[in-house]
Amino acid sequence: MDFRDWLHSQLCVTLPVPTKRYSGLTIIVTGSNVGIGLETARYFVFLDAAKVILAVRNTAKGEAAAKSIIQSTGRTGVVEVWHLDLASYDSVKAFAERASSLERLDILVNNAGILVYKFELAEDNESTITVNVVSSMLLSLLLLPKLRETSVRYGKENVLTFTGSFVHFMTDFPERKAPNIFKELANKERANMKNRYYVSKLVQLLIVRGLANQITNSTSPGDITVSIANPGFVKTEVMRNASVSFHLIFRPWRKLVARSAEEGARTILHAAAGGKETHGQYLSDCKVAETSEFVRSNEGEEVQKKLWAELSTTLERIVPGVMKNIS
Ligand SMILES: NC(=O)c1ccc[n+]([C@@H]2O[C@H](COP(=O)([O-])OP(=O)(O)OC[C@H]3O[C@@H](n4cnc5c(N)ncnc54)[C@H](OP(=O)(O)O)[C@@H]3O)[C@@H](O)[C@H]2O)c1
Repeated sequence: MDFRDWLHSQLCVTLPVPTKRYSGLTIIVTGSNVGIGLETARYFVFLDAAKVILAVRNTAKGEAAAKSIIQSTGRTGVVEVWHLDLASYDSVKAFAERASSLERLDILVNNAGILVYKFELAEDNESTITVNVVSSMLLSLLLLPKLRETSVRYGKENVLTFTGSFVHFMTDFPERKAPNIFKELANKERANMKNRYYVSKLVQLLIVRGLANQITNSTSPGDITVSIANPGFVKTEVMRNASVSFHLIFRPWRKLVARSAEEGARTILHAAAGGKETHGQYLSDCKVAETSEFVRSNEGEEVQKKLWAELSTTLERIVPGVMKNIS
């Protein structure tokens, strides 16, 4: 995707309004108190889902979001607000433990994400990497058995999807050359925080592709589709921590070309609708799209394998045995 393609996507593509019904289904959306996550959850409630769980780090904000969804859809008894702080592995584990008692789980939307310029550790890595990559994957692996169980019981395809980004095109990811990539990303002295969000979205994409491969090769029962959706450039609060100079450059662009959060959510609903053609795919403008040249290159494939191996070791350390959930 070059600049012209991006501009065309932002200005000329009309995203289809979701119409698929989610009657009877239970769906979790992380980071759903504002922005794309809130509009995604609103769509699921509007489209008849039985239970939509807003997984949020601030439950007061989550309750306000729930109220807004109830007001706009007129549906009560559907939305639940559950606490989830992706900056804490204990919080992820507690959330997954609670979710294991759900009667069913049909769709998990890993949407929460941060963009920060200040290096801060959260658990064993820089916070962007912990929130956007490690914890989202930990949550996914912990909930995979419930997604599978539901798929088998109801004989249906279930979906595990992630909110990715076109910004994965915008970094040459210098940390890829380090002997241990995650350790390098946790190094405060060498961290390039201006590049970090882009790197996190590239790492996320590679890891999601790694997960999809593992699920394709898995012998466990259950039909799980894994995908990653790019919502495009969307007017949300995601850049709240960006520098003043960044805002000065981006504010006019945002005004001119950014989508609304509701339009961004349409891309997530497209991913959540599933379909075998979306498995392992990067989705953009509500269709399967091409990833960056690096992701498709031989080097990209090697880096993907390396990241997957490193992350597997980390996840096993956090929850021993968790990788068996895929096999
Ligand atoms: N906006 C864009 O142009 C754009 C483009 C491509 C991809 N994306 C991706 O879209 C996703 C949603 O972002 P958005 O644009 O809607 O931004 P947003 O309005 O800032 O929403 C981000 C959500 O993530 C939550 N979150 C942040 N840290 C968390 C944590 N530690 N634990 C749990 N939840 C946490 C936020 O909660 P709080 O409200 O409590 O902070 C918020 O609900 C992100 O993954 C982002 O990278 C956005």
